[in-house]
Amino acid sequence: MRRWARTMVGRVACGAVAVALLGGPTSVAAAAPLPAAAPMLAATPPMGWNSWNRFQCNIDEAKVRAVADAMVASGMRDAGYRYVVVDDCWQGARDADGFITADAARFPAGIKALADYVHARGLLFGIYSDAGAKTCGGRPGSQGHEYQDALTYARWGVDYLKYDWCETGPRNAEEAYRLIERAIAATARPILLSLCEWGTARPWLWTPTVGQMWRTTGDITDKWDGKHDYAYGVTAIVDLNEPLWPFAGRGHWNDPDMLEVGNGGLSDTEYRAHFSLWAMMAAPLIAGNDLAAMNAATREILTNREVIAVDQDALGQQGHRVARDGDRETWVKPLSGGRRAVLLFNRGARSARIVASWDQLGYPPTLTARVRDLWAHRDLPRATGLVAATVAPHGVAMLVIAP
Ligand code: GLA
Repeated sequence: MRRWARTMVGRVACGAVAVALLGGPTSVAAAAPLPAAAPMLAATPPMGWNSWNRFQCNIDEAKVRAVADAMVASGMRDAGYRYVVVDDCWQGARDADGFITADAARFPAGIKALADYVHARGLLFGIYSDAGAKTCGGRPGSQGHEYQDALTYARWGVDYLKYDWCETGPRNAEEAYRLIERAIAATARPILLSLCEWGTARPWLWTPTVGQMWRTTGDITDKWDGKHDYAYGVTAIVDLNEPLWPFAGRGHWNDPDMLEVGNGGLSDTEYRAHFSLWAMMAAPLIAGNDLAAMNAATREILTNREVIAVDQDALGQQGHRVARDGDRETWVKPLSGGRRAVLLFNRGARSARIVASWDQLGYPPTLTARVRDLWAHRDLPRATGLVAATVAPHGVAMLVIAP
């Protein structure tokens, strides 16, 4: 339906131009009315919560309901978080006709009731499945049941599907993800598709794009750096995701995995850096902590509206690193209205002075601009030619520069 609408818009517009070039009637108003374009599912990076990072398979309907309540009470919904996503291990067996059922011990009221509960709080509901025979947690996967599962999700009121890649054997990833996308489209319910293929088959190269977001890496873990078994620390994920910046844009986003903010493995300074880097990378902001038990510092990080606004900026451009000098990094993200978000990021163990020059921002050297500090929530003196800050170890200064 969405594709059809887009094609028709293209055809009508081209027809009008051709008529004009041939010297015929030039009035665009005379052309047939354009069909209304379907709203884009992820014009800005999706925001929400997912159960996996904090709870793994130890999930049940009471925990999800508590998180939905907390998303409202904490102010996260009002800050832009929308999706409540149940990750792996919600599934029971398939019934005699092959339809998937919920694990009755963990979700006795069923998934539809849970989706209703979430919707009643002004939120959207997401679920997880897998392109293989089994999910990574060993539950039934969707292979061979794609249309049946998409229909089931639509009937339950699902708004978001995270689709994983375990137990897929020799399947072709692009074919498998296009198949579930077609199955979703056949339900006519707008369901956001989140690809979780870990970047192996380079989904950012599949054009036109499949789904609204694609994982670019293996799993994140609540550590600062390095690789730990199959999972990566925050800065290791950053280094894998950063070079992919040209592939993100309105409606389709690189996904460096869910947030670990508030899960206890890092300091608040490091979590601020983690959150800022995700915003600079226009990443989906999917909280992965227990929202029902978070402290004030975690809530302040996750609801920093000035940082969220950088992530959600209407231009939809992913930021990237423009300079690196040992542990000192300068990042830039172009924003709407000619503004720039600037991140001065210190990876090192000692405080460091880090500079961003107008040249790195693409501004003429004589330009004078307003400077806003997004973590201090205050305006700094106007600047010409450069901005600089002394940045704490594993910390950031995050600024918006406005000409
Ligand atoms: C994979 C995914 C994770 C999570 C688990 C669930 O590891 O990458 O994000 O969904 O499976 O089993």
